[in-house]
Amino acid sequence: MILQVTNPLNSSELIFPTLECIHIAGFALSVGTIAIVDFRLLGLGMNHQSTAEVAADLAPWTLLGLVVMLTSGPLLFSSDPDMYYLNWVFDLKMVLLLLAIIFNYTIRRKTAYSGKSGTRAKVVACVSITLWVGVVFGGIFLAFI
Ligand code: HEM
Repeated sequence: MILQVTNPLNSSELIFPTLECIHIAGFALSVGTIAIVDFRLLGLGMNHQSTAEVAADLAPWTLLGLVVMLTSGPLLFSSDPDMYYLNWVFDLKMVLLLLAIIFNYTIRRKTAYSGKSGTRAKVVACVSITLWVGVVFGGIFLAFI
């Protein structure tokens, strides 16, 4: 006898799009605030504040955005796990996401709080932006590939 478990998230057609809206809002908050600090590291705007000040001001918002993403994402995933984990784009997104979060709270955090703005800071900012753009592309393309 196979136990049929129905996912309450699939009980109404409105739940998935609502969750996806929350997922997109969380992505705007998390990746948006990360990008602002990366642009500051690149010297592209907000130069009236040090990188350390910008990073410290935005850190709580980044964390809130990531909590929203790490909650809404698995819920979206649970609506049809087989469709997602068998999709190489989803697997790539998860690998990039893990790398992006580790990089964000290690090398990039140290660089942003050091207040330095030389070549190394610019390289760190470019790596950060590339990783998060990869996560976002993974999120968008996983529905099409
Ligand atoms: C900061 C981390 C994350 C970012 C920036 C991100 C970004 C995105 C983006 C841009 C979309 C496309 C939304 C759309 O086209 O409407 C998406 C969809 C999705 N994401 Fe994420 N995501 C993140 C974390 C996660 C996590 C942790 C999971 C699961 C464990 C996940 C699972 C999904 C699923 C299942 C979809 C729906 C795809 C579909 O339309 O069928 N995401 N994500």
